[in-house]
Amino acid sequence: MIITDNLLATFLETRSNTEEICAPLQIEDYVVQPIVDVSPPKWHLGHTTWFFEEFILSKYVNGYRRFHPEFAFVFNSYYESVGKRVIRTNRGNLSRPTVREVYEYRDYVTSHIQAFLEDNEDPKVGELIEIGIHHEKQHQELLLTDIKFILGNNPLLPKYNDTFTENPVSDQDFGYSNIPEGIYEIGYEGNDFCYDNECGKHKVFLQEYAISNALVTNKEYLEFIEDNGYKNTLLWHAEAWDWIQNNNIEAPLYWHKIEGQYHQYTLQGLKVVSDIIPVTHISYYEAFAFAQWKGERLPSEFEWEAAQSFFEWGMRWEWTESAYLPYPNYKKAPGALGEYNGKFMVNQKVLRGGSVATPQNHTRSTYRNFFHPHLRWQFTGLRLVKDI
Ligand SMILES: [Fe+2]
Repeated sequence: MIITDNLLATFLETRSNTEEICAPLQIEDYVVQPIVDVSPPKWHLGHTTWFFEEFILSKYVNGYRRFHPEFAFVFNSYYESVGKRVIRTNRGNLSRPTVREVYEYRDYVTSHIQAFLEDNEDPKVGELIEIGIHHEKQHQELLLTDIKFILGNNPLLPKYNDTFTENPVSDQDFGYSNIPEGIYEIGYEGNDFCYDNECGKHKVFLQEYAISNALVTNKEYLEFIEDNGYKNTLLWHAEAWDWIQNNNIEAPLYWHKIEGQYHQYTLQGLKVVSDIIPVTHISYYEAFAFAQWKGERLPSEFEWEAAQSFFEWGMRWEWTESAYLPYPNYKKAPGALGEYNGKFMVNQKVLRGGSVATPQNHTRSTYRNFFHPHLRWQFTGLRLVKDI
């Protein structure tokens, strides 16, 4: 990756976008960790900064002085080979460093990277900066979804702002596209950025199938609820059934039944559930049960990729039936950055597409997102497939 003015501009823009996401927050919002999967905004701000300090400044800048000797311990996420860290459940228990100190940390690292880039032409450094930028964009999405969880689990249901639209619905085509049987090429090939888990373009044989052009809507999902979908054990995997019993799951996350009518918490506050909007904040378990109820199924990630030019996507992360596994010829990135993706290839499901929270230019048709099947705090939805 050649270092250009463009790379520097993208770096600075990414750093500032992260801070803009936090602009509507009150100081108390920065520290809360209501569940283990949700990190405090303060932690995201520090962790994305640590990434640049750990993998670039401390390795490539002679005599670089870390902003604080203990911040690697506080802001390392899961890089075992880099050193010890605060356990994940404790991220919300840290009143220090303060939010102000974390913003100072950001400024310190941003200005050091800027000075370093203006004086360095090593393509290897360019590649690392690019990974750091994409890493921070991934965290921008997590930051927003974590903020939603923090505010949406507060009994006062405070809104994030008045402008963030979760549901940009265009005219939807509720038909299906037929995809002929054949051999399809799956995976990324090209010169732009991609993660190691997308590489290894390879051929896959697919049987003929029909895939829905639109995502499943709230209206359809309400029909599933009203038909006692959550009470019908025949629709659910065994572990999913235990999950809905143990957690009293009766509707998507953020849904509240008020005087007989479903409402949903959004970043703009509580709203009546709208029929035409794609359902969101459902787990893989729920997506699967819904598809069972419909007599259809979820696409595999290969079917999704082969068909993606037939529909609009990017509004919801779409659950697939595929386990998150390495492609043939998968090669981990060398060193600590090999921990970025590969070690998570167990017990997770692939999601494809992108969501309203995904930063621009961050996702692509080969992008593989992945989560455990019970998780639903991301903007997740589903599309159906019929066998032919
Ligand atoms: Fe990270």
